[in-house]
Amino acid sequence: MKILVAYVSGFGATAEVAKEIADILGRQHTVDLRTLSAVRSLEPYDAVVIGSSLRAGRWLGAMNRFLKRFAEDLASRPVAIFTVALTARTMEGSRRVLAENLPRLLERYPNLEPIATEAFGGVVDYDKYNVLVRGIMHKVAKEEGLPTSGVQDFRDWEAIRHWATELAEKLAAGTTPA
Ligand SMILES: Cc1cc2nc3c(=O)[nH]c(=O)nc-3n(C[C@H](O)[C@H](O)[C@H](O)COP(=O)(O)O)c2cc1C
Repeated sequence: MKILVAYVSGFGATAEVAKEIADILGRQHTVDLRTLSAVRSLEPYDAVVIGSSLRAGRWLGAMNRFLKRFAEDLASRPVAIFTVALTARTMEGSRRVLAENLPRLLERYPNLEPIATEAFGGVVDYDKYNVLVRGIMHKVAKEEGLPTSGVQDFRDWEAIRHWATELAEKLAAGTTPA
């Protein structure tokens, strides 16, 4: 199967998760890894995996634009969606993102029924932020009961690899003739 893994990432955390997912899918499939905004066509792909981080409770703009632009193509292919977000660093938070933020993203696309969705914990790195972003992040961190300086990386690489491995198998199974 030829699979596109496409992502949008503000500060690199989602990009690294996308790369790990692409590497694992690549063991069984042919995979292209791209940013969402670099994708011109879905024609070459049998399946699509898309990811975005969350910012102030919303998906990054490129994710919304991608869905709008390729809605028709996505409805006719297996699609998997992942997010990387601070809230998703706990199991309960991850469920909340999937139950609240994901439906908000997909509500305008009733024909898009992802075969897999997951929310992974994210990264906070105050050294990478400008004053404005740092201010927003301070607010988010306080609400979440987290430190307001330094680096915190909540990505669970085991969980990420597990999800990608299961997805690779699911996609492979889907192509097996009955
Ligand atoms: C300005 C800003 C706002 C954020 N807002 C949220 C949020 O509302 N909910 C959340 O779970 N995480 C939030 N985060 C955390 C990011 O989702 C997390 O840092 C993620 O790893 C960022 O990935 P990226 O570097 O790929 O953009 C926010 C981060 C920043 C910088």
